Amino acid sequence: MPTYRPPRIAASEITPESVYLSRRDWLSGSAALAAAALLPPEAAAAALPTFYKSRYSTAEPKNSEAEITGYNNFYEFGTDKRDPAAHAHTLKPSPWKVEVGGEVAKPRTFDLDALLKLAPLEERIYRLRCVEGWSMVIPWVGFPLAALLKQVEPTARGRYVEFTTLMAPEQMPGQRDDVLAWPYVEGLRLDEAMHPLAILAVGLYGRPLPNQNGAPIRLVVPWKYGFKSIKSIVKIRLVEQQPISSWTRANPTEYGFYSNVNPEVDHPRWSQATERRIGEFFKRKTLMFNGYDEVAGLYKGMDLKRNF
Ligand code: MTE
Repeated sequence: MPTYRPPRIAASEITPESVYLSRRDWLSGSAALAAAALLPPEAAAAALPTFYKSRYSTAEPKNSEAEITGYNNFYEFGTDKRDPAAHAHTLKPSPWKVEVGGEVAKPRTFDLDALLKLAPLEERIYRLRCVEGWSMVIPWVGFPLAALLKQVEPTARGRYVEFTTLMAPEQMPGQRDDVLAWPYVEGLRLDEAMHPLAILAVGLYGRPLPNQNGAPIRLVVPWKYGFKSIKSIVKIRLVEQQPISSWTRANPTEYGFYSNVNPEVDHPRWSQATERRIGEFFKRKTLMFNGYDEVAGLYKGMDLKRNF
């Protein structure tokens, strides 16, 4: 089984607790530490630094951990929803490096410890709406993508951000099949990437990300269809031209660059007006931007039917 390298930083080095934690959050943090002390060393090591609860979280009921870790899309491990849970144990999430470069003043390669020091970790409970018509509510732990991008100082030519997943067929056997052009690639416009809702997630349900959810670090962009939220990232590049994502390359008429959740723009083969929350029987109406109206300003003046 892959092991997670314990972060060497104390939460106190990241941020004063008094600033970021309410008394209740602090209490739950110390309860977690006390619980960790009772566990065997490997289990105790697989803990995240302290995180605080974010004001950006939805109050909707969360999906269960079993649902979130047992029903996945991660084509590097197969195309069935149960494949990632069954096969992703071959991924080695430690040691891990993320190379950040392209149109930046300060290119830099970060290891996981350095990534965890970029900003205080937060629990963000977000809705995820998959393009296939299902949705979940997921308690991620992560930090704003903007905190990473600010470190490398994008130049004026860096207008888009391109993300790339690990390429390692011996760890990711699905990469031996040509269902997609590997490695998996996704992209955002720089202002989308800098939006406070866009995060890099390193945890789920208070623990390091399970392999099937994109260990050790993945993107989460809650107002876009789930496929934009690329998993197991090894490379981030600032680029001048709009990147071509793996899904757009596979089928440009079905998967556009923007891929904002939009009930008014049907997928060519099905309606996007409703969705089924995993665990619920009745369908619910899909909301524009997945209900994250605060991003609307990013698309002011754009025709979102043309820029789907
Ligand atoms: N990232 C990689 N590298 N490979 C993938 O196949 N699938 C995407 C996205 N990120 C995918 C990926 C799709 S289609 C969805 S819906 C989400 O991951 C699912 O995330 P989850 O399994 O953590 O819910």
